[in-house]
Amino acid sequence: MITAYDITLAQAADAPAIAELSRDAVEYGLPWRWTQARVMRCIRDASTNVVVARHGGSLLGFALMKYGDDEAHILLFAVRATHRRAGLGAALLSWLEATAEVAGILRIRLEARAGNAAARSFYRRHGFVESGSSPGYYEGAEDAVRLLKELGPRP
Ligand SMILES: CC(C)(COP(=O)(O)OP(=O)(O)OC[C@H]1O[C@@H](n2cnc3c(N)ncnc32)[C@H](O)[C@@H]1OP(=O)(O)O)[C@@H](O)C(=O)NCCC(=O)NCCS
Repeated sequence: MITAYDITLAQAADAPAIAELSRDAVEYGLPWRWTQARVMRCIRDASTNVVVARHGGSLLGFALMKYGDDEAHILLFAVRATHRRAGLGAALLSWLEATAEVAGILRIRLEARAGNAAARSFYRRHGFVESGSSPGYYEGAEDAVRLLKELGPRP
C-alpha cells in the first residue's frame, strides 16, 4: 500500500513513460496513437495539463486534461497495473477537479472504452454520469461511453 504520492505537472522527460503506459494500459489492442511526440505536444500546450504521480521517483500514473472555456476534457488517464486500487487514481482525479474548479470550469467530460468496466466503475464512484455512447469511437473496434461530471460548489 502506498501512502503518499507526489502529484506534479509533467516534464518533457516524462513523455516516454506516459506514452508507454498509455499504449499498455489504455490503447491495448488498438493502434498506438498517444506516442511520445503527441504527449510532448500536450506538455507544451498551454491549454492542457499533463499531470504525473510519482512515488520514490517512479512514475506510477498520469492524467491529461484539456481546458475549454467552461468545460474540461480528460484525454488520457492511467495508473500502473501494479499500483491500482490504492487510491492513486482518486488522488489524480481530485487534483484535476480542484484545478478545474479554480479555473472556473463547470463540467468535466471524457470517453472510456465501453468494455472498460474498471474505468466506468471508477468514474461513477467519483460522481460522473454516463451521458451517451459513441459507436465505433475507437478505430471502429470498440464503442465509447461518454461520461460527464458537473462541478458544483464544494460542501
Ligand atoms: C481506472 C483506473 C485509472 C483507476 O485507478 P486506481 O488507482 O486503481 O483507482 P482507485 O484506487 O482510486 O479506485 C477508486 C475506486 O474506483 C473503483 N474501481 C477502480 N478500479 C476498479 C475495478 N477494477 N473494478 C471495479 N471498481 C474499480 C472502485 O470503486 C475503487 O474503490 P475501491 O478500491 O475502494 O473499491 C485504473 O484502473 C487504470 O489505470 N486503468 C487502465 C487505464 C484506464 O482505464 N484509464 C481510464 C480510461 S478513460
